[in-house]
Amino acid sequence: MSFLSEFVRSPLTVGAVAPSSAALARVVTAPIPRTGDPVVVELGAGTGAFTGLIQRRLGGRGHHIAVEVNERFAMRLAARYPGVDVALADARDLEAVLASRDLPPADVIVSGLPWAAFAERQQRDVLTAAVGALAADGAFTTFAYVHARWAPPARRLRRALESRFDEMVIGRTVWGNLPPALVYHCRRPAPILVPGAA
Ligand SMILES: C[S@@+](CC[C@H](N)C(=O)[O-])C[C@H]1O[C@@H](n2cnc3c(N)ncnc32)[C@H](O)[C@@H]1O
Repeated sequence: MSFLSEFVRSPLTVGAVAPSSAALARVVTAPIPRTGDPVVVELGAGTGAFTGLIQRRLGGRGHHIAVEVNERFAMRLAARYPGVDVALADARDLEAVLASRDLPPADVIVSGLPWAAFAERQQRDVLTAAVGALAADGAFTTFAYVHARWAPPARRLRRALESRFDEMVIGRTVWGNLPPALVYHCRRPAPILVPGAA
């Protein structure tokens, strides 16, 4: 089983032909605190391009959950990273995954999900689940490929991130990834404004 063979099997779920690079992993995992016992959620962990670095940054502290919908990837992750709590689940069900483990909201969510391959509804549902599972002062990072930056799904994601977080900053292009990528650094989920409410 390889990343490429899983892409061929399910292109819209895997969403990339190769795993992310170490350079991209360094940028997306930057918000993980070096002290304390944070709850860190990894969405769409795949073959573990970010997993090893998250484990190193945690150094045995906190709780690291990797949510992966592909069973073969999930089994491989669990075998390779015994310190990671691997949940074979859809990211849409993140709040239920945390509740089933009696865990508080996540301090950091690192997403490797293929947002550009998601339909509009799926994109909205997954983002709602992530925002709902994040602590009030939590951080959320995700990435988009530079070449697809102006395509409708990427623009939709960017608008959604801007409206669902108090702060959204786009990092510098990570050229050391194939294809080059941009990282969205989001902080503090914003309350949903109800029109007409005081
Ligand atoms: C582009 S790959 C990224 C894998 C890895 N994070 C990396 O950067 O190399 C996307 C991953 O998200 C997983 N995935 C797609 N949709 C998902 C969903 N709704 N819930 C959980 N995982 C999902 C896929 O199975 C795949 O492993």
